[in-house]
Amino acid sequence: MNTLAQKKLLVGVTGGIAAYKSPDLVRRLRERGAEVRVVMTAAAREFITPLTLQAVSGQPVRTDLFDPAAEAAMGHIELARWADAIVVAPATADFIARLAHGRADDLLSTVCLATRTRLLVAPAMNQQMWAAAATQANVEVLRQRGVRVLGPDTGAQACGEVGPGRLPAPDELAAAIAAQFTAPRFAGVRVVVTAGPTREPVDPVRYITNRSSGKMGYAVAEAFAGAGAEVTLVSGPAQLPAPAGVALVKVETAEEMAAAVRAAIDGAQVFVGAAAVADYRPAEVAGQKIKKTAETMTLALTRTPDILASVAMRTPRPFVVGFAAETERIVENARTKLERKNLDMIAANDVSLPGLGFDSEENALRVIWKTGEANLPAARKHELARGLVELIGDRYFENRVENS
Ligand code: C5P
Repeated sequence: MNTLAQKKLLVGVTGGIAAYKSPDLVRRLRERGAEVRVVMTAAAREFITPLTLQAVSGQPVRTDLFDPAAEAAMGHIELARWADAIVVAPATADFIARLAHGRADDLLSTVCLATRTRLLVAPAMNQQMWAAAATQANVEVLRQRGVRVLGPDTGAQACGEVGPGRLPAPDELAAAIAAQFTAPRFAGVRVVVTAGPTREPVDPVRYITNRSSGKMGYAVAEAFAGAGAEVTLVSGPAQLPAPAGVALVKVETAEEMAAAVRAAIDGAQVFVGAAAVADYRPAEVAGQKIKKTAETMTLALTRTPDILASVAMRTPRPFVVGFAAETERIVENARTKLERKNLDMIAANDVSLPGLGFDSEENALRVIWKTGEANLPAARKHELARGLVELIGDRYFENRVENS
């Protein structure tokens, strides 16, 4: 059980029927060692009493912004500074709207505005209110400001309807809140990812490239950043926005990608080669546009550097993960590549399957390492990337323990 020892939590309770779960949440947070203070909105007091929350928190409950006695004991700005996290559970549609608009018309909204600490909200409301465009837009605004949104759960509602909008069970909420304080798995780990195609010029207006969209590599970089890693993404030409929290280096050719990887790789602990690097480039790049005079023409090609293999040859070397786009005997070919290129792990995908792999939203991966393999079934590339990062983590941290 993740601990909350030494943590000071301010629990905000707003006026929805799910407020009946808030006293239980307070108890669960205290069981994990947290010191809890509660602020209720006026509407919350229509559902449960301050006395209940006072009894379970062991502290006087604040409800009013203009309460001279309470303000004298701990002013609202002091309260905002005191908290290591503010958790609003349940957060009604109205409270979410007020938070999104920066209102400060009661104690809880004022404290939320006056704090620099992390803010967590657990929405709970009728499923139609949750689905409403206004609510969804407000929640998106909060997410973009860094507010963590916990839930809602889906199921039977107090109003008799069924759908998303339930407050998660108090023990689940307490676990999710505690998880906010544990360091993410890849914190302090430097990761370099390559993505996208490369573009090998033939003359000033023509080039050789391939169908890679870069989506898988970008999703892997984003998943690593989400897991706390410090990520450099070296990308060939791709029509994708830079993932949040990732240092993006844009390149065109395989040679440029190799140089960018060399510049970024020192001190990196993990390397993922998800780029579809051209294996050959035109041996000579014409200085001028090639004219169509001859009936046929031959383009001489020469090999490009194998970026993945050269990273795997370094000493010390990072944990090296390659991708293998295959059209037949997927596992066999991938395992051969794992050994030939001296990789720690290889993610193979069957690019002959319709709707999967190159330039598509979905993919499926067979992940292979020296002593085992795992199947990541067809899913959106973001979801798949999170699964792959988990598998890399399992192997990477296991190896670190073995080697230490
Ligand atoms: O040998 P093959 O090209 O199929 O291997 C694919 C893997 O090798 C991918 O991870 C790809 O990013 C990497 N690769 C590379 N440099 C190359 C060719 C492939 O890093 N020149």
